[in-house]
Amino acid sequence: MKTARKDFPEGFIFGAATSAYQIEGSAFGSAGSCHWDTFAATPGNVVRAEDGSRACDHHGRWREDLDLLRDGNFDAYRFSVSWARVLPEGRGTPNAEGIDFYDRLVDGMLERGLKPFLTLYHWELPSALALRGGWMNRDIAAWFTDYSRLVMSRLGDRVAATATINEPWCVAWLSHFLGIHAPGLRDIRAAAHAMHNVLRAHGEATAALRADGHGNLGIVLNFDHAEPASQTAEDRAAATTQDAIFNRWFIEAVTRGTYPEEALSGLGPHMPGGWEADMARISQPIDWLGINYYTRHFHAADPGAPWPATREITGPLAKTTMGWEIYPEGLRNFLTRMARDHVGDLPLYVTENGMSWDDRVENGAVEDAARIAYIDGHLSAVREAIGDGANVRGFFYWSLLDNFEWSLGYEKRFGLVHVDFDTLKRTPKASYQALARALAPRI
Ligand code: FCB
Repeated sequence: MKTARKDFPEGFIFGAATSAYQIEGSAFGSAGSCHWDTFAATPGNVVRAEDGSRACDHHGRWREDLDLLRDGNFDAYRFSVSWARVLPEGRGTPNAEGIDFYDRLVDGMLERGLKPFLTLYHWELPSALALRGGWMNRDIAAWFTDYSRLVMSRLGDRVAATATINEPWCVAWLSHFLGIHAPGLRDIRAAAHAMHNVLRAHGEATAALRADGHGNLGIVLNFDHAEPASQTAEDRAAATTQDAIFNRWFIEAVTRGTYPEEALSGLGPHMPGGWEADMARISQPIDWLGINYYTRHFHAADPGAPWPATREITGPLAKTTMGWEIYPEGLRNFLTRMARDHVGDLPLYVTENGMSWDDRVENGAVEDAARIAYIDGHLSAVREAIGDGANVRGFFYWSLLDNFEWSLGYEKRFGLVHVDFDTLKRTPKASYQALARALAPRI
C-alpha cells in the first residue's frame, strides 16, 4: 500500500465499519423480528434465500472482532445498534439482554483504544413497526426518537460520535421506489412519504438528543456520482434528475430546509400534506456529516417511462463484483462539493468506502491485491480533497468482515477479514495486513 498514516493530518481517524443486521446474528440474544428477517423469508427477495439470523455470529464473537480492529491499528469502529434487539416490539419494553450487549461492546472498544462511532439506524426496522407502515407512517419520527433516547441514555456517555440514520436514500428510495430492499415496495407515493419521514425522524431525534445533553451528532448520507450517458439535453436532464434524488434531496433538506425542484417535480404531488412545515425541524444543526461513497453511474433519458423517466447505464471502467465501476475521483468530488456547496468547514467523515471481490482462502491466506489498490486510490482521493480545503477528519473502510450483503446474501465479500460462513472462521486478508502496516502508530 502506497498510502500511510503519515500522509494525513495529525489526529485523522482511520476505522472500519459494520452494521448490526449484517454481522450479529438476529436469532441470538432475544432480539425481536425485524423487516429484514421477514423480507428474507419471502421467496425471491434475497439470493439463495439467505438471511441474517446467524450472519458472522458477531453476537458471540465480538471480542475476537474487536481484537482484529485493535491489531489492525485502527483508531475507531463504526457499528450500529439494532432497534429490534433493543426494543423487540419497536416500542415499549426494552430487551435488557440487547442493551447489555451494546454496553459491553462499547466498553470493549474503549478497553482496546477504539473510538466508538455509533449509528442508530442501519435498516433493521422492528416488524411490529413495519406492520404499522414503517417509514410511511408519520409516527415513525416519534418512535425513532424514543428508541434513540433510550440507546443514548445507556451508551451516550462513552461514544465518540453518533449518526442518526445510515443512507436515507436506501431507507426510502431503494426500499419503497426501486423495491430492492425491505419492505420491497415499488410505489411513488410510499417513496415520497418515506423520503420525508426519514428526514423528520433524523430531525426530531437530533433535537431530542441535543436537549438530553448529547453532542457530536450527525447523519450518514450515500452519494453516487451521476453522469449523463451522452451530451444530449435529454440525457443531461436525466443525470440532473438522478443527482437531485440521490445526491441533493437529503443534504439540502438537512442544511437548508429545502428540497431540490428537480426531484419535487415528480415527488411533489405524492408528498404528505403540509410537509413544508416540517422543514425547519429537519434542518437542525448537525456536528458532522458522514459520506458513504462507492461508485458512479451514467443516466440516460427513458422517454416512454413515468417520472423520473431515466435509465441507468454502466460505464467502461474496471468493476468490483457488485458491478460497480472503480472511480475514486467521485469521492474527491463529493467531499469538495459538500464542503463548497453545503457544509463549509463542518467535519466530514468518509463513513463507508470499500469493494467486494471474489476472495478465496488459499494456503491459509487471501491475496486481494485489487482491494489494496482500491483503498490506495480512494485514500489518495481523500488526500486530494483535504488539499482542496475539505475538512475531512476520518475514513472508515466498509467492511471489517465479509457479511450479509442484503438482497445479495453472502456472496459479495467486502471484508478486510474473510469469513467462512460454514465454520465462521475469520482470516485476515492481505488488505488487512497492508492497512495494519500503513496505520502503524507514528513513532
Ligand atoms: C451500503 C450500506 C452497507 C453495505 C454497503 C456495501 O449502502 O450502508 O450496509 O451494504 O453499501
